[in-house]
Amino acid sequence: MRRDNIILVGFMGAGKSVCGRLLARRLGRCFVETDDMIVAREGRSIPEIFREAGEPRFRELEAETIESLKLKSGDVIATGGGMPCRDGRMDALRELGTVVWLDGDVRELHERASRIGNRPMLDGRSMGEVEELYRTRQSYYRQAHVTVDTTGIGADQVVARILKALRDAHAVRA
Ligand code: S3P
Repeated sequence: MRRDNIILVGFMGAGKSVCGRLLARRLGRCFVETDDMIVAREGRSIPEIFREAGEPRFRELEAETIESLKLKSGDVIATGGGMPCRDGRMDALRELGTVVWLDGDVRELHERASRIGNRPMLDGRSMGEVEELYRTRQSYYRQAHVTVDTTGIGADQVVARILKALRDAHAVRA
């Protein structure tokens, strides 16, 4: 039987953090973010890690984080947008529980992510390059157990859709 965590994956700006926090509250579960785990462990911000150690080091830290997620059960876990996008990563995440892909219109995702800022993967990338990055990542995200489209709706509605999808997949009873 697979573990009973709920793991949110998806591109930057999909609302994994905001919706994950709301979802955890609705279900009375703990909420964890892989980016926060990395920041706490490293004692520096994500942009600092990218700047000082480079993206490959950040990806190694993500791999180590997946290992420590194996200790979790019953949690809602928000992952960084690039975490599932390496071979074998989606299999590892699927082992932890039910994986939910928060998808959406790439321009809308980009708009939302840029508004919040602090995304080294968006720095210096044109819209065309961001679309290309999104396209290369889709084949990984698509391996999620369920997909929720966030286009044009707010966090409350996204959470309602996630709950419905989880109930339909018999992943939660609430
Ligand atoms: C990244 C997404 C970020 C963070 C890091 C790299 C990516 O998380 O992990 O900046 O490669 O897409 P969010 O998806 O929460 O923005």
